[in-house]
Amino acid sequence: MLDTPSNRPELPPEIARRRTFAIISHPDAGKTTLTEKFLLYGGAIQMAGQVRAKGEARRTRSDFMKMEQDRGISVSASAMSFDYNGFRFNLVDTPGHSDFSEDTYRTLTAVDAAVMVIDGAKGVESQTQKLFEVCRLRDLPILTFCNKMDRESRDVFDIIDEIQENLAIDVTPASWPIGVGRDFLGCYDLARDRLELMDRADRNKVAQTIEIKGLDDPLLEQHIPADLAAKLREDVEMARELLPPLDAKAMAEGTLTPIWFGSAINSFGVKELMDGIAQFGPEPQPQRADPRQIMPEETKVSGFVFKVQANMDPKHRDRVAFLRMASGHFKRGMKLTHVRSKKPMAISNPVLFLAADRELAEEAWAGDIIGIPNHGQLRIGDTLTEGEALRVTGIPSFAPELLQSCRAGDPLKAKHLDKALMQFAEEGAAKVFKPVIGSGFIVGVVGALQFEVLASRIELEYSLPVRFEPSQFTSARWVHGPKEAVEKFANANKGHMAEDNDGDPVYMTRLQWDIDRIARDYPDVTLSATKEMM
Ligand code: G4P
Repeated sequence: MLDTPSNRPELPPEIARRRTFAIISHPDAGKTTLTEKFLLYGGAIQMAGQVRAKGEARRTRSDFMKMEQDRGISVSASAMSFDYNGFRFNLVDTPGHSDFSEDTYRTLTAVDAAVMVIDGAKGVESQTQKLFEVCRLRDLPILTFCNKMDRESRDVFDIIDEIQENLAIDVTPASWPIGVGRDFLGCYDLARDRLELMDRADRNKVAQTIEIKGLDDPLLEQHIPADLAAKLREDVEMARELLPPLDAKAMAEGTLTPIWFGSAINSFGVKELMDGIAQFGPEPQPQRADPRQIMPEETKVSGFVFKVQANMDPKHRDRVAFLRMASGHFKRGMKLTHVRSKKPMAISNPVLFLAADRELAEEAWAGDIIGIPNHGQLRIGDTLTEGEALRVTGIPSFAPELLQSCRAGDPLKAKHLDKALMQFAEEGAAKVFKPVIGSGFIVGVVGALQFEVLASRIELEYSLPVRFEPSQFTSARWVHGPKEAVEKFANANKGHMAEDNDGDPVYMTRLQWDIDRIARDYPDVTLSATKEMM
């Protein structure tokens, strides 16, 4: 096991060895390939290619998944657990497409760090930038992996400059590439003064490691050509002069990111990155909650739902709530309190997601992600505890940016549509507003692609063809304020009012001017673009 610079010796070893993180990247940068290699080194799969193969087998099962495949996007987040070198890694997958950014934001509330994968030829791309901004909102520690170094890629200093400038984060090299493209031989490990050489003949083979005594060691020339050795010495000297050193505190605060160079498809640099995650992870962090923060080492179990996925198996109406364990040691069969309803829940069939399979979770510790099958009691933002009325905070619901009205293709099936839309609203896949006047629903999403996914899921999962049509409104805002003020406001603006799926009042309009006017005319009410989920 590596030494971890844990500043929390009070953490039980089972919790201290957990690393819960997500991978953020632009589509095509190599997230799937890297995930596959993680699982391979984690011993969770025997052969690279299984994640993709399983993915394809799953995709052919439904048109919805086919859409993912056609567009090369991943829209459903899932969690995977595996062991590596004495550590338990929990990898939470995030959708890469910006139309699903709300889902991604919530996913990122469940992790303690993010791995940012960039393509060495392309640098920081639009999606990476957006996802990074989300991580920044939570000050998440970021570890960077610059992938595809086996291809022609950009100058290393250029890439580092671009990250520093575009993302406003300091970069420190953990490794330094030797040669690029066809001449890429491997990396020099700056922390451990050793050479890692890539084996091009066998893509799944772990790199050969050669211990050397610093860059002046003449052994270097025995393994790499003299011109590349000279360039390596020059580059590393410059990097050490110009770039900040690896500082664990700055990293933990999200102001500095270590960067590893490699080639996921050639399994190169992956282990070094995994060692980095183990070393700088960090371990499960305290969780913001009301009325007090939750510490992972508390003996009492608590956790919160950050994602609900319904109909994972289209043949059964199943629903799985993904729970991030915030504290304690959970054992299967435990009775926990569902804080929102104050009701007890026996958690008898929790699942753990191992690679692409599900397995009954006999136990789980703070930091772990478990899936709880349920019939709709568990919603995003819900907290489970051993009785204390704690509520994990910071899981917002964003006002949708696009609104459309939704109608059943067959008017006789309007009731079914009602049910389907409520389910998607609870799952967090869309906002559903029921106008106070008139019939039908207005559905709000963050990205246009979500309408297509919804329409195809409703058709597939409920055998219900639906139409989305432009709505007369373009913005929705939650209305907050003292009860009488909100009621007075709602009565005076009936034509603009709706209820969301929790029954909370929402004001809809197509004019920003209206929103500004209300701020002046109704000083007692506030219109807000986010609502805390609870
Ligand atoms: P994503 O999940 O981020 O979208 O990326 P994914 O891993 O699917 O990788 C995108 C493409 O990049 C894949 O090629 C993959 O093989 C390739 N790739 C990943 N890592 C490396 C690398 O280190 N070097 C090189 N040269 N290529 C890499 P594809 O042609 O789209 O798919 P496939 O036919 O290989 O499956």
